[in-house]
Amino acid sequence: VIESNAVPDPDVVQVDAGAGEYSVSVGPGQLDRIGAFVVGLAGVHRCAVISDSTVEKLYGARVTDSIQGAGVSCEIFTFEAGEARKTRKVWSILTDALLDGGFGRDSLVVALGGGVTGDLAGFVAATYMRGLPVLQVPTSVVAMVDSSVGGKTGVDTAAGKNLVGSFHPPVAVMIDPEVVRTLPTDQRSEGWVEAVKHGAIVDAAYFDSLEAEGPQLVAGEGDAVRRAVLRSVQIKAAVVSDDEKEGGARMALNFGHTLGHAIEAVSEYAMGHGSAVALGMLLEAELGERLGVTEPGTAQRLAGALQAIEISARLSDPCSLEAIEDFLARDKKAREGTPRFVLLRRIGEVDREFGWTRAVPREDIKAVLRSTWLSN
Ligand SMILES: NC(=O)c1ccc[n+]([C@@H]2O[C@H](COP(=O)([O-])OP(=O)(O)OC[C@H]3O[C@@H](n4cnc5c(N)ncnc54)[C@H](O)[C@@H]3O)[C@@H](O)[C@H]2O)c1
Ligand SMILES: [Zn+2]
Repeated sequence: VIESNAVPDPDVVQVDAGAGEYSVSVGPGQLDRIGAFVVGLAGVHRCAVISDSTVEKLYGARVTDSIQGAGVSCEIFTFEAGEARKTRKVWSILTDALLDGGFGRDSLVVALGGGVTGDLAGFVAATYMRGLPVLQVPTSVVAMVDSSVGGKTGVDTAAGKNLVGSFHPPVAVMIDPEVVRTLPTDQRSEGWVEAVKHGAIVDAAYFDSLEAEGPQLVAGEGDAVRRAVLRSVQIKAAVVSDDEKEGGARMALNFGHTLGHAIEAVSEYAMGHGSAVALGMLLEAELGERLGVTEPGTAQRLAGALQAIEISARLSDPCSLEAIEDFLARDKKAREGTPRFVLLRRIGEVDREFGWTRAVPREDIKAVLRSTWLSN
């Protein structure tokens, strides 16, 4: 007899985080399996679900029902949705609420939401009573393909984003790909940019499939989303696991981010991270082609994939050219004033001639920025 509410077995990806292994489960209905997972955790008797106001309304009850239904006591704590709330102030409000609620060392934090919730709730877990376990339950594309795997947690400060934080790998990550249906369309597009990046750095076949299935991914169709999230999680898991042993592989994830971060900052965050990274990838591919490192036509292929996920990466304000160059000169990753870039050899492969990054002369960066601006 097949139960009408039976949840299919998820695909499971193992992450080797050095400090311990954890698994990432990807499959429809995972939201309803949280209780069953929590019951199996030794030493956990209480749950503090942390979520933002938007996600709490949509999925909060489903998660608390699942946990309480499994016989574990559970309370939900919410904060107002948005990056503006990823702060020490909200961290202190949440940790005070947990203290008031009498949460002790037998508690589990469940981070239910997008990347903001994952980072903030992860940091609460990292610091509360010197560290509680955290279960990551990502609900945005960004959180599923990027932020929930790897263990980085933290908050923003006036001086910049993610400047105060900690490395705190989760006990597990549970992903229900169906929940991205309720995400606004442009948020899905922005999130798929990091998936395109995953294809570009290690898997040409995945890159092609993202381009082919762009419309379904943007629409949030369950099975296309499930397969893409699974492949991105496998790639990110391999890279962050590798890094523990080898050192440096994680650098490849910065493809598109040197220029992307500069563009994002210069736009004063008017441009979304995904769109800025999309543009960063295009420019860094052009840079690689100009230097003879990247196979000709690579930038063009990237443009096609980005178009398929409905990202229109274009530079709007020619006046910000100097601002971008200034930002690069001050970039913390710059070595002796020369910016370093992750460059592609071709779609699916990073150039490794000088390690994971190579220094690029300023004149070449300027030339690429200028030619792109002029041709827009
Ligand atoms: N830790 C890492 O390694 C890492 C990596 C990448 C990004 N990040 C961080 O992630 C954050 C961005 O993540 P984000 O884009 O998910 O932002 P977010 O968490 O603010 O989510 C975006 C919006 O979508 C809403 N939302 C989330 N899931 C939803 C759903 N299923 N249905 C309807 N609405 C939903 C949220 O309420 C929010 O309004 C940034 O703070 C960034 O620094 C961290
Ligand atoms: Zn990114």
